[in-house]
Amino acid sequence: VKVAALVSMKGGVGKTTIAVNMAYEASRTGRRTLLWDLDPQGAASFSLRIKPKVKGGARGLISRRRPVDRAVRGTDFDELDLLPADLSARHLDVVLDGYKRSTARLGRLLADVAGDYDLAVLDCPPGGGLTVEAAAEASDLLLVPTIPTPLATRALDQTHRLLGRARRPPAFVPVLSLVDRRKGLHRVAADDVRKAYPETLTTEVPDALTVERTAVERAPVAVFAPHSRAASMFAAIWDEVEPRL
Ligand SMILES: Nc1ncnc2c1ncn2[C@@H]1O[C@H](COP(=O)(O)OP(=O)(O)OP(=O)(O)O)[C@@H](O)[C@H]1O
Ligand SMILES: [Mg+2]
Repeated sequence: VKVAALVSMKGGVGKTTIAVNMAYEASRTGRRTLLWDLDPQGAASFSLRIKPKVKGGARGLISRRRPVDRAVRGTDFDELDLLPADLSARHLDVVLDGYKRSTARLGRLLADVAGDYDLAVLDCPPGGGLTVEAAAEASDLLLVPTIPTPLATRALDQTHRLLGRARRPPAFVPVLSLVDRRKGLHRVAADDVRKAYPETLTTEVPDALTVERTAVERAPVAVFAPHSRAASMFAAIWDEVEPRL
């Protein structure tokens, strides 16, 4: 199974929105896909209409006392499953800290279901805690949504220093998010990001109402607005990410 994680130090940059839509696009191209919600806010679970409930909570899941696949839920879509998060996920950092090889733990859980999926997309909480470090260690690729603002490159440098130093460092791939091309500052900052990180995805996620509606419609954009620009944009994102996995 290939693993891609959505990570960023900052909150509210589009991690969950991209995770949901990219996972859906992958599933649509026939990849057996697992979206793993690691955020106690449960926004990815909510967006796919899955009740954010994990029997035994985060502690039970991470302990592997109950099999991981028992916690997995089917979605309305073929080939797309979800591993939900509930509020107990707020203790994930602490729970992981109780294990000797704490940052290897999420990888072990993924290994339990590796045969069932071609792709796992990890929707991380914001920040750089143990959960995010463990997600990075389990990943082949980190997708880092970045709003093009003056300090964007600096934040990327921080994230890169923190997460790019694993034994087997995952590919580090910024994706410009919530971009408003009418703003001069956004255009300048976007260029700065691309210069500093040439591996940044060519496709940008614009600040757009259609994209924002993912959380309102509780479905991927391609489902409620199949002919929109936003839908082809998310398809393009998956097209760019897949060969880098
Ligand atoms: N491209 C976009 N255009 C307009 N609104 C967006 C876009 N992407 C995300 N949003 C909105 O911005 C808010 C934050 O998005 P999202 O939840 O995807 O970010 P996040 O990085 O996962 O946040 P958190 O760090 O809290 O998990 C949500 O209300 C979402 O609907
Ligand atoms: Mg989120």
